Amino acid sequence: MLQKLKDRWKVNNLNLVLIISTFAIGGSLCGKAGARLLELGGVEKNFSYWFIYILLITLLWPLFVITVSIPLGQFSFFKNYLLHIWQRISGKQKKVIKIAIFASGAGSNAQKIIEHFKKKSFVKISLVVCNKKVAGVLDIAAKENIPSLIIERNRFFDEDNYLAFLKELGIDFIVLAGFLWKMPTAIINSYPNKIVNIHPALLPKYGGKGMYGQRVHDAVIQAKDAVSGISIHYVDELYDHGNIIFQATCPVEETDTAESLAQKIHQLEHLHYPAVIKTVLEKLK
Ligand code: GRF
Repeated sequence: MLQKLKDRWKVNNLNLVLIISTFAIGGSLCGKAGARLLELGGVEKNFSYWFIYILLITLLWPLFVITVSIPLGQFSFFKNYLLHIWQRISGKQKKVIKIAIFASGAGSNAQKIIEHFKKKSFVKISLVVCNKKVAGVLDIAAKENIPSLIIERNRFFDEDNYLAFLKELGIDFIVLAGFLWKMPTAIINSYPNKIVNIHPALLPKYGGKGMYGQRVHDAVIQAKDAVSGISIHYVDELYDHGNIIFQATCPVEETDTAESLAQKIHQLEHLHYPAVIKTVLEKLK
């Protein structure tokens, strides 16, 4: 039961305790305040008393839990919680955009994206797709309670491309974060302008087949470029080719090695990729 709540609300043990405490303290204060108000109003304890009481505490409850949530450090959770309830009641529920992250490596970008969208109610990271049986990103998915899918080459390229599976899960948007296989045409056509990738250099330079990871940084250093950076772009049928959405740069020093440059690039990626994805998704709302 508690585990289910943790998974649903995506919180850790401490936050779960604080959230439950907020519900308990807020609820009991609200009950007491409702009774006190009716007493002050001189309402007699008959059938209508209970009717008014329930109505009153229903109206007061949001105010009490949100107030209690502040000292317990749970304001942001309860703000979203109450907003969600209001949207359900008013029928103005926002559509949640479901994202699949495709990654094959350590998953540091995936981790940042997951963290960024944890508290954004209009986005849900619903799936992590990986083409390797062992990868850091799979451990991250498990830790974050996000379902993962290990894909097989044949099915991905020559059979149904896992499209039915993605559609069945309701995936609306795909984020590539260190995914080395080329996206099949069928998936690209099914997700027009809804697949983004990040490349660790300033495209159109240093992109294309075989240009990934260390090879990119080696090429930049060999060319003695004074700047490198990141490119976030839509994905089309060619490697690292779709329209560029965003680029950011960093200097390449004479003393830089492929490793030190990779670190700078990772920092830029972590800083910008989640925010750029959010901007793209906001246009889809
Ligand atoms: C990143 O450098 C990204 O630009 C490239 O693959 C790398 C993935 O790194 N497409 P990580 O697995 O997210 O740490």
